[in-house]
Amino acid sequence: MKIIIKLGGSLLAEGREIMRFLSDYAEKKAVFFIIIPGGGPFVEVIRELSERRTISEDAAHWMAVLAMHQYGFFLADGEPAIPLVERMEELSNAGHLCIVLPYKILKADDSLPHTWDVTSDTIAAFIADKLGEKRFIKVTDVDGILDEDGSLIKQIHAKELIEKEDKRCIDAELPRFLMRNKMSCVIVNGNFPERIIDVIEGRGTICTELFTT
Ligand SMILES: Nc1ncnc2c1ncn2[C@@H]1O[C@H](COP(=O)(O)OP(=O)(O)O)[C@@H](O)[C@H]1O
Ligand SMILES: [Mg+2]
Repeated sequence: MKIIIKLGGSLLAEGREIMRFLSDYAEKKAVFFIIIPGGGPFVEVIRELSERRTISEDAAHWMAVLAMHQYGFFLADGEPAIPLVERMEELSNAGHLCIVLPYKILKADDSLPHTWDVTSDTIAAFIADKLGEKRFIKVTDVDGILDEDGSLIKQIHAKELIEKEDKRCIDAELPRFLMRNKMSCVIVNGNFPERIIDVIEGRGTICTELFTT
């Protein structure tokens, strides 16, 4: 079973521990984790340059994609067994767990818009779609999408999020991408990694399910 996980840059301090947790689980069970790194702090300077219009949207797009590589290298550091994968073809024989460095994959299929609406959440959905997977798990530093009074939204249709001004902890493009491709996304808090396993094993847990069908 393939499981696509987008690991948020917001979890910089906990990221490597989460990787070890997933790696242990993958070794015990017959699952294969494909980790898509977020951009986290590595993307901040690019965003600043972009806001000051020092760089074009195209340059900002590719620089931000490469920020995902930075986080990918960070996550793999100290764990020599974790392969860093740059091509779709390599994803089928990359062991129990691998980290995707998406630059070449996105260069080969440059169909995502080059705007700040598209960041690593949408890129994770894009790669999941290429793998024929209908779902991915976004691991972040909050329990899921919170509503105006701070309570957790357990389930929400992507259409409802498109209509909301504030996209709430996900890329603005993600709900549109999910709608177009009839995909779903579960958002879980990586500070409680056992919740990732609950999602994989189909147990109810604290999370937000973002659905389209
Ligand atoms: N309504 C909301 N529900 C959940 N998180 C929100 C909301 N509004 C803003 N956020 C913020 O979004 C953050 C998660 O998104 P982001 O920083 O992009 O994380 P990641 O690096 O995991 O993609 C949370 O830490 C939270 O501060
Ligand atoms: Mg984010």
